[in-house]
Amino acid sequence: MKVLITGSKGQLGKKLIEILGKKYQLILTDSTSMDITDIDIIKKVIKKEKPDYIIHAAAYTQVDKAEENIELCREINSYGTKNIAAVAKEYDIKLIYISTDFVFDGKKNKPYTEDDKPNPTSVYGLTKYEGEKYVQKFCEKYYIIRVSWLFGELPIEYKGTNFVEIMLRLAKEKTILKVVNDQIGSPTYTGDLAETIFKIIEKAPEFGTYHFSGDGTCSWYDFAKEIFTQTNTKIDLIPIESKDYTQKALRPHYSYLDKSKIEKTLGIKARPWQKMLSEYLLKR
Ligand SMILES: NC(=O)c1ccc[n+]([C@@H]2O[C@H](COP(=O)([O-])OP(=O)(O)OC[C@H]3O[C@@H](n4cnc5c(N)ncnc54)[C@H](OP(=O)(O)O)[C@@H]3O)[C@@H](O)[C@H]2O)c1
Repeated sequence: MKVLITGSKGQLGKKLIEILGKKYQLILTDSTSMDITDIDIIKKVIKKEKPDYIIHAAAYTQVDKAEENIELCREINSYGTKNIAAVAKEYDIKLIYISTDFVFDGKKNKPYTEDDKPNPTSVYGLTKYEGEKYVQKFCEKYYIIRVSWLFGELPIEYKGTNFVEIMLRLAKEKTILKVVNDQIGSPTYTGDLAETIFKIIEKAPEFGTYHFSGDGTCSWYDFAKEIFTQTNTKIDLIPIESKDYTQKALRPHYSYLDKSKIEKTLGIKARPWQKMLSEYLLKR
């Protein structure tokens, strides 16, 4: 089995290489070797490599910066995904597209199922949703996997970071930290997500949209508290409301994903997010 990964230098890409690389032949692509905004390059690579699967993990992921860089974000998340979907269809390749809980507006206040209608509140969420629609329009053999609050080991020379690393860095610089307590969701470890993607390829369940994340809800404040508890970090942590914390992008107040479909389909049970965090803290 040959699996091509877009965004292989990213946070999820790193874990996909580790887990899928044990069994499959991987073709690793990044923005230099296969810019997803260039359909000719994509066709050239696909024609040469002939993968059975494409895992499309490449994205413009800077949620706040996206509010100012709308065109660039749309070029990558929306049209880049359109290119990938069109080529996957043309060469009859199964496509796994990684999407986000930020496609929802958060007003439901109950776990979001795959049947709930997206209504993104940010440019990032909107362009990821546009990407979903292109996948559905062009491909029949697709899996859209929506995940939330992703964290995982950072690749070497990776310029970005994740929430856990930001919290641990800030705790070294400050004695008091204010963290938002009214956005509810669930953190997801890249390791658990990569294992789930592996199972999807192995079991080849019915095509369609699936939700996956850590089990149990929390706010960013709860997440930060757990990070500091598990790492024995002393800091004065203060819960605040979103309205008192300036962020360019509007995020959903509630975006917990209902995972019953993927759990039933694959015969798995998502681990509590706290356990995912413990593993990350051991491995980072
Ligand atoms: N991070 C989260 O909290 C979160 C939550 C929900 C869903 N997701 C989704 O999960 C997926 C993986 O996220 P992640 O955290 O692993 O992202 P990440 O670490 O930011 O990695 C994204 C990768 O996309 C690549 N990329 C950007 N523009 C590209 C282009 N034009 N052509 C080819 N590659 C390009 C980048 O490659 P270069 O390094 O080569 O520029 C980068 O390595 C994304 O689809 C994201 O939307 C993430």
